[in-house]
Amino acid sequence: MSNWSRRTVLKSLGMAAVGAPLAGKTIDTKNTETNSLPLFRNDKKKLKEPIKAIVCGAGGRGWGAYSSYARKYPDELQIVGVAEPIPYRRERMAKAFNIPEEHQFVTWEHVFELPKFADAIIITTPDDLHHGPAMAGLNLDYDLLLEKAIAQSWEECNDILKLAEKKEAIVAVCHVLRYTSYFRKMKEVIDSGELGEVVSVQHFEPIERFHMCHSFVRGNWGNSKKSNPIILSKSCHDTDILRWIIDKPSTKVSSFGSLSVFRKENAPAGSTARCTDGCAVERKCIYSAIRIYKEQRGWLGHLNLEEINDKTITRELKNGPYGRCVYRCDNDVVDHQVSNFEFEGGITAAFSMEALTHYGGRRTRIFCTNGDMFGDEKTLTITNAITGKQDVWDVRKEKNDGSGHGGGDHGLVHDFVRAVSFKDPKLLTSTIQASMESHLMGFQAEASRLNKGAVKEIKLK
Ligand SMILES: NC(=O)c1ccc[n+]([C@@H]2O[C@H](COP(=O)([O-])OP(=O)(O)OC[C@H]3O[C@@H](n4cnc5c(N)ncnc54)[C@H](O)[C@@H]3O)[C@@H](O)[C@H]2O)c1
Repeated sequence: MSNWSRRTVLKSLGMAAVGAPLAGKTIDTKNTETNSLPLFRNDKKKLKEPIKAIVCGAGGRGWGAYSSYARKYPDELQIVGVAEPIPYRRERMAKAFNIPEEHQFVTWEHVFELPKFADAIIITTPDDLHHGPAMAGLNLDYDLLLEKAIAQSWEECNDILKLAEKKEAIVAVCHVLRYTSYFRKMKEVIDSGELGEVVSVQHFEPIERFHMCHSFVRGNWGNSKKSNPIILSKSCHDTDILRWIIDKPSTKVSSFGSLSVFRKENAPAGSTARCTDGCAVERKCIYSAIRIYKEQRGWLGHLNLEEINDKTITRELKNGPYGRCVYRCDNDVVDHQVSNFEFEGGITAAFSMEALTHYGGRRTRIFCTNGDMFGDEKTLTITNAITGKQDVWDVRKEKNDGSGHGGGDHGLVHDFVRAVSFKDPKLLTSTIQASMESHLMGFQAEASRLNKGAVKEIKLK
């Protein structure tokens, strides 16, 4: 017995998952609740006819995440125009949807030179090209599916909000996590009141180091001036989930973080500007672009590859952003950041974003007056302290149409086309109105970080 760990002893008593009886009650772990949420939130609402949309930016999101809905459900969404400067991406979209030549554009500005010819604009351009097409689209009375981050400053976000309200337009911000089974279940449990009131939350976003070096060092989101600080470009999903689950305004934030690893002074001796320049340590480097892109064929979606082969990948590594040494880029976004938020009623949330993990998948612990919940985007363990009942809900047993972000990509479009068709923003959860506050949480967290953690107020007006 003396060699048994505490966990082994508890396991033998059927208590491993919780560690101890609670308030005199043994936690009943046998009850494993599964299923079943509808595949989509508004499954029962049927469209009379498909929504017609124009895609601005036919890259990863425009082509992969959202137009794929139109390919799968053509009776709900039709793509009738595309603006995209990279020819093969524009042509791929035009071919898939038979888009006439007069509705194929090189840049988003050209779309708005014509009178309105669709119901909605899908804005999936880079972060610094959200404000322009959003304002132009609203001015022409289009509804918008708008990628996050909404824009690059609080003022720009407000411009879009004001015009959207004036035009009574539907503007869905692409907070796709709200449309996943996993986060829908989390929200459903909290809203049911079964666990009482939320008192505090710990939320952790492990970015995963290859994702970090691809997107936030070499890639589109490495430089805050070209895109946004990472608390917005990546973690606006997290501030949004916190705000959504807690369902009360956030009032204050204090934040710390820095760029510790991906800096010039950390470049190893013998390293070169590009991995393909004869770098002496390339074979030993965790972040070798040759290994990641050419040998493992990983993360190729953002490379400008009309076809995938050694020749095109080598060309991109020699000339494009993804061949650069991770210690010698123009990146400035932080690789770790901790932010503490206070919400109305004294509720607290501690949020940590970490780049240097070998795993992804957000972890969340929610502490409530009558129980608690923790999850890792696969399971949610829900413990009711009053009844002693513990349910383990497994997202992998839920229906999923296979789209990205755990089904959230198509879940969002499903609700968006209905909101546009019925002119009813309530069919969405991530309207621009709902998203403004979580964006402000991000802008204020960044202001705090730049001011050595000074507490910043979060006030919408
Ligand atoms: N909701 C999410 O979870 C999520 C995930 C990833 C990215 N995003 C956001 O989606 C947006 C697009 O990201 P992505 O991963 O698809 O990037 P991407 O680079 O794959 O796609 C952007 C596309 O816009 C095109 N483009 C550039 N200038 C243009 C112009 N003037 N007119 C029209 N098109 C132009 C680019 O050529 C590119 O093909 C970004 O704002 C990003 O932050 C959101």
